[in-house]
Amino acid sequence: MNAPLLDVRDAEIVFTARRGGVTRHIQAVSGASISVARGQTVGLVGESGSGKSTLGAAAIGLQALDGGEVLFDGTPMPAEGSPAWRTLRRRVQVIFQDPFSALNPRQTIGQSLAEPLRLHSMGPRRSWPDRIAELLELVGLNPEMARQYPGTLSGGQRQRVCIARALAVEPDLIVCDEITSALDVSTQAQIVALIADIQKRMGVALLFISHDLGLVRAIADRTAVMYLGRIMEAGPAGEVFETPRHPYTRALLGAAPIPDPVLEARRERIPLRGEIPDPADPPSGCRFRTRCPHAREECAKRTPLPEPAGGAIVACHFWREITGTEDRS
Ligand SMILES: Nc1ncnc2c1ncn2[C@@H]1O[C@H](COP(=O)(O)OP(=O)(O)OP(=O)(O)O)[C@@H](O)[C@H]1O
Ligand code: SF4
Ligand SMILES: [Mg+2]
Repeated sequence: MNAPLLDVRDAEIVFTARRGGVTRHIQAVSGASISVARGQTVGLVGESGSGKSTLGAAAIGLQALDGGEVLFDGTPMPAEGSPAWRTLRRRVQVIFQDPFSALNPRQTIGQSLAEPLRLHSMGPRRSWPDRIAELLELVGLNPEMARQYPGTLSGGQRQRVCIARALAVEPDLIVCDEITSALDVSTQAQIVALIADIQKRMGVALLFISHDLGLVRAIADRTAVMYLGRIMEAGPAGEVFETPRHPYTRALLGAAPIPDPVLEARRERIPLRGEIPDPADPPSGCRFRTRCPHAREECAKRTPLPEPAGGAIVACHFWREITGTEDRS
C-alpha cells in the first residue's frame, strides 16, 4: 500500500488567549488523526468550534502543531515560510469560505489567476493568457472574464475564480474550508457539483470541511466527524452516514435534515442538546459526555480512543451496546 497523500497523526494544537486578565489554553485540536489518499475526497464535519479549520490549516502547514505530526506524501510538513514549504505549497492548495475577501478588488481576474503561475514559475509568461482562459473554462466561466474586476462578479462566480486559482498550479490536494457557506442554496449545489466534477476529471484529492452533512454526503468518499478537538468517528462516507455508531454522529444526523429520503425516514431523532463546552476547560474522559444521552460514570473517567468498528473507527466506550452490536470480538 502506498503512503497516504496527507497523513495527520495525533495532532495537538493549543491556542493561548488572554481574556479578562486570565490566560486560557484553548485545546482546539487534541490527538486528532486524519488521512487523505491520492485522488480521494475526505469530508470533515462537526459543529462550529470543533477544530475543523484549525486541523485543515495544519494539513497545509499554515498552523504549527504542539504535538503529533503532519506527513505529506510521506514527508514531514516543513516549517511555514521555509523554501521546502514554498515548494510544497504548490502541491497543497486551499479555498476558503468567503469568495468576497479572497480576491484582490484592485486586480483583474486575469491578474489574480496569473499570480500563482508567477509564484510557482508555471511555464513561460507568454503561455499564461491561454492557461488563464483554459482555467476559466474549466470552472465554467467565460474566458473574457479575465479582464473583469471581482466587484462585477456574483459570489458563485468569485468562488469559481478561487477554484480556478487553486487549480492553476496543478495541486495534489485542495483543502476546501466551508467553500459554499457564504453562497445561496442553489449556487451551493452548483459549486459542489463543479468541485466534484473537477475532482474526478483531474484526480485531485480534497479535504472537504463543512458543517453541511448533505453536501459532505454528496461529495465525500470518506468522512471524519470531529467534536471539541477530537475525531469521534471516521470511515467510508456511506457507512458513517448509514450506520453511524458514535452517539455524536447519530445526534448530528438526527439534528440535520438529510436530502436522501430513505435515510431521512430511518434517522433517529435525538436532538443535540446544549452548547459545546469551553475548549479551554473540556470535560474529562469523553469530551462528548456532557451532551451524550448514553453517558455514564465510566465516560468521565476514561478517554475513549478510536477503535475499529466495521469499516470505520469510533471513539466511544459503548458503541457496541448503543448500536445493538452484540459481537464482542
Ligand atoms: N487563532 C486563534 N486563537 C485562539 N483561539 C482560536 C484561534 N483559532 C481558533 N480558535 C479556537 O479554536 C477552536 C476551534 O476553532 P476552529 O475555527 O478550528 O473550529 P471550526 O470547527 O472550524 O468552527 P467553524 O465551523 O465555526 O468554522 C475554537 O474554540 C476557536 O475559538
Ligand atoms: S464514551 Fe460515553 S459519553 Fe462518550 S460518546 Fe460514548 S457513551 Fe457517550
Ligand atoms: Mg471553520
